[in-house]
Amino acid sequence: MCGIVGYTGSRAATPVLLDGLRRLEYRGYDSAGLAVIQPTGGVAMRKEVGRVAALARAVPPDLPGSCGIAHTRWATHGGVTQANAHPHADSEDRIVVIHNGILDNSEVIRQRLIADGVTFRSETDTEVLPHLIRTFYDGDPVAAVRAALAEIRGTYGLAVLFADHPGLLIAARNGSPLVIGVGEGESFLASDPHALVKYTRRVIYLEDGELATIRPDEIATTTLQGGGVNHTVEELEAVYGSEDKGEFPHFMLKEIHEQPESISRCLRGRVQPREGNARLGGFDLSPADLVRIDRVCMLGCGTSYHAGMVGAMAIERLARVPAVAEIASEFRTRNPIISPDTIHLAVSQSGETADTLGAVKEVQVKGGRVLGVVNVVGSTIARTCGAGVYIHSGPEVAVASTKAFTSQVTALFIFTLMLARSRSLSLHDAQRLARGLMNIPEFVRAYLASPGPIPEAVRLLTQARYALFMGRGVSFPVAKEGALKLKELAYIPCEAYPCGEMKHGPIAMMEPGRPVVVVVPDDEHRERTLSNMQEVRARGAVLIVVHTRGDDEAAAMATIPIAVPATDPVLSPLVTVLPLQLLAYQAALALGKDIDRPRNLAKSVTVE
Ligand code: F6R
Repeated sequence: MCGIVGYTGSRAATPVLLDGLRRLEYRGYDSAGLAVIQPTGGVAMRKEVGRVAALARAVPPDLPGSCGIAHTRWATHGGVTQANAHPHADSEDRIVVIHNGILDNSEVIRQRLIADGVTFRSETDTEVLPHLIRTFYDGDPVAAVRAALAEIRGTYGLAVLFADHPGLLIAARNGSPLVIGVGEGESFLASDPHALVKYTRRVIYLEDGELATIRPDEIATTTLQGGGVNHTVEELEAVYGSEDKGEFPHFMLKEIHEQPESISRCLRGRVQPREGNARLGGFDLSPADLVRIDRVCMLGCGTSYHAGMVGAMAIERLARVPAVAEIASEFRTRNPIISPDTIHLAVSQSGETADTLGAVKEVQVKGGRVLGVVNVVGSTIARTCGAGVYIHSGPEVAVASTKAFTSQVTALFIFTLMLARSRSLSLHDAQRLARGLMNIPEFVRAYLASPGPIPEAVRLLTQARYALFMGRGVSFPVAKEGALKLKELAYIPCEAYPCGEMKHGPIAMMEPGRPVVVVVPDDEHRERTLSNMQEVRARGAVLIVVHTRGDDEAAAMATIPIAVPATDPVLSPLVTVLPLQLLAYQAALALGKDIDRPRNLAKSVTVE
């Protein structure tokens, strides 16, 4: 979603700002802009609709100035236009702002400023900020920003430049992440550490309710009200900066093929097959704590919600503890009942998803316990939860989540093993499950080396006006994940249903030639799923069937059978999802879509 980059130092700011924006492109955006304080006084500003490359073409290559801010916008208030792109400035172009988040009371402030004679140049909520700051400005930039923010309700990560104060960046955060990069005689600002790694690995994470004054040699943080705040400088993880596509044409394909390694990283040091047990140090739960858990609630959005669904089903089945997965946005808006003995797990790749963060805070405000299951180290959800585990996928750059899903599911299986072992799961069964988990990376590698008739299935899907995905038990969230991937990448209308729900509506959509993707591993639901397959086949539907290798009956019913390695049935989502990832990838490729950056989507959804 929107990206922020800032620089103050002695080098030319423009190349640093453009480079930072390019590194944030993966997050999704629709326009870009920058502002640089000019040595002659004043601020040079450029904005363009479209890619950062278009902005780079519009900016004079030798634009002077060594202090500036830059932004990629993902439209919320106002259409995708040059005028609505950030930065926004006051009427004299002396105070310039970029902003991530949403200002809830912007309309009231806007009307008041208009009544006072201010002319607005955009439809954005952000534009109220420079005008409002201007009304408080009497030579003290920090006091003016503080006074303006005291009137603002809503979420923000923002950066402000004052033409009168070259070399100074002011940043403030409330609900939208900001990280300050500490260099030698230069300082950086970004909404995401990816923008900084080329220049420095030493960072300060700004917290909600804080303001920073950033100069080349000095960084000071306070509360928004001016109270003292001390931050230690942290070292960024080595994984940042390691993103390139290597031999692959797209990040998504690379990330699909990284799954044997990313799942191994998630398992490493955590599963003990001989003891039939597991340990997630970050959860800090003793067996005595585990037996007191009376319910587990997963919170997440999109793919992370699907991973939570798999985890909840595994927990109920193996640990016999009631478990549910909740869509975080719905959970937080319905005033949920929080029990102190329920453990909540916030599942998020980015660790920045506003709805998941909102759900975390809702649990915390009601005295509940919530632990993170997060990929990005140091992200807001990880820090807000305080305790939790990292899934160690490594950076996921493609907007569509793939390796994070399998690592989230792996982490939840590890938790299932711990919880189940503290209850009814026998040593023997736990050993079998632990060994099964440890074998998964090899199975994933084997499948990816020989993925089966994906191109044939893609031909059916890309010609379809509608496709249905279905599965039972743990295969239902896999079907949902497959449909989500196909929708978001190839824009093919499709939906996922539990097999048993077919007869209650979706069967009306069955007609000759309609593609139906069925996920049917060799588990206790197989027989009934085969019956559902007969029902749709009888109506002329063509079946793309993901089945366990060696299941000849399932394969024989399929128009396109896709075999995956046999696993413990409960672990099957870690292999059955792979063909669905490839189907979506290949379908998007065949249709010429932008695979790594699908339209309208953002890698980290930092607005509600
Ligand atoms: C789909 C996808 C999204 C995310 C969702 C949650 O491919 O990537 O559905 O899963 O936006 O994001 P995180 O996991 O970062 O909280």
